[in-house]
Amino acid sequence: MNLSLTEEQEMVIQMVRAFAEKEVKAVASKMDAVCEFPKVLVKKLGEMGLMGAFIPLEYNGSGMDLLTYVLAMEEISKVWASLGVIMTVNNSLVCDPLHRFGNAAQKEQFLKALAAGDLLGCYALTEPEAGSDAGALSTSAVEDGDSYILNGTKRFITNGKHADIAIVYAVTDPSLGKKGITSFIVETKTPGFVVSKTEEKMGLHGSDTAELVFQDCPVPKANLLGKKNEGFKIALATLDGGRIGIAAQAIGIAQGCLEASIEYAKMRHQFGQAIAGFQMIQWMIADMQTEIDAARLLCHRAAWLRQMEKPGVTLAASQAKLYASEMSNRIAYKAVQIFGGYGYIKEFPVERFYRDARITTLYEGTSEIQRIVIARELMKTS
Ligand code: CAA
Repeated sequence: MNLSLTEEQEMVIQMVRAFAEKEVKAVASKMDAVCEFPKVLVKKLGEMGLMGAFIPLEYNGSGMDLLTYVLAMEEISKVWASLGVIMTVNNSLVCDPLHRFGNAAQKEQFLKALAAGDLLGCYALTEPEAGSDAGALSTSAVEDGDSYILNGTKRFITNGKHADIAIVYAVTDPSLGKKGITSFIVETKTPGFVVSKTEEKMGLHGSDTAELVFQDCPVPKANLLGKKNEGFKIALATLDGGRIGIAAQAIGIAQGCLEASIEYAKMRHQFGQAIAGFQMIQWMIADMQTEIDAARLLCHRAAWLRQMEKPGVTLAASQAKLYASEMSNRIAYKAVQIFGGYGYIKEFPVERFYRDARITTLYEGTSEIQRIVIARELMKTS
């Protein structure tokens, strides 16, 4: 593994950083405060090729490697994690399974528009009674002529309110348990697809989290993604990639905290000097940087393994997600500590970073689920 970045990767970092600094930073706090979904910025991400970053050019993606996408995710999330999650769901949880498991017609009809950023996607796995135990989902899909009829409820669906396309997991054979789950491509304008609620959350106020209800919602058989009854494996294989994206998001949030902390510590004077001169602040800054680098290396390794289709991706992705998300929370805590009382005030970005970091240990599998995955993978191989 070569740890130096290519010229192209450096260029992408510069391009995304310039966009985030100029166009995202200016609006992030204001839009977040009023829970506004950043439609215009999402459109710009599409124009920059970041909504289908690692999808091949023939399907309107940018053909980047996964590491380049991870670097871009860090830059966006460093400024506004809400925009980061909208981007990672479309890339990792929607475009990626369509590319891996979709047929030619599905790629033509859906992937091209999603990768170009002309359509937005969401990933509908979680249900009220099936969160960590995702295989216990009960949304049903019953054959009816050329269609399947979907009934059930999905909960905590990122992009759910604004999405045009949903990748939905539903039970096609209840007698087989999680081996009877199938994946479907559902157009959200289909009759019977209802956005029943949007959640009020602690953080990520710019991203919508919706409850979706399927009421006799017909989905053409042509929209079955992958093979019938193999949907749960598609869901888990997809989450391997998604967890790398969330690790990158968590690293971006932590990097934002670190940069804000250094700037503030140099500017803030107490006891007759800048607080950056105090060893207790320097130690915090030193630990923050070291932990961020450790998480970044885990994340970049996972991205590289997935890109090269090497074994060990599931393990590496869960390790990266576990460490980066918990690290991000520790770093956000320290950043608020360095800011003191100002860190608790909405005028300063670390207040938002602190709230946004919290979700990263929860979605796309809690830390406890990552530990289960890591332990299971180790038992398999040793
Ligand atoms: N890739 C491909 N196949 C996989 C796999 C992977 N990474 N991991 C497991 N499988 C296969 C298994 O080999 C097994 O196949 P066989 O039956 O043929 O042996 C099958 O999938 C089922 O696996 P398990 O029996 O291990 O499944 P399980 O029921 O024990 O669950 C789990 C495993 C890891 C706990 C899983 O349920 C899980 O990851 N839960 C967390 C759910 C989650 O992350 N939800 C996130 C929601 S999406 C979200 O948050 C998005 C957002 O809004 C940002």
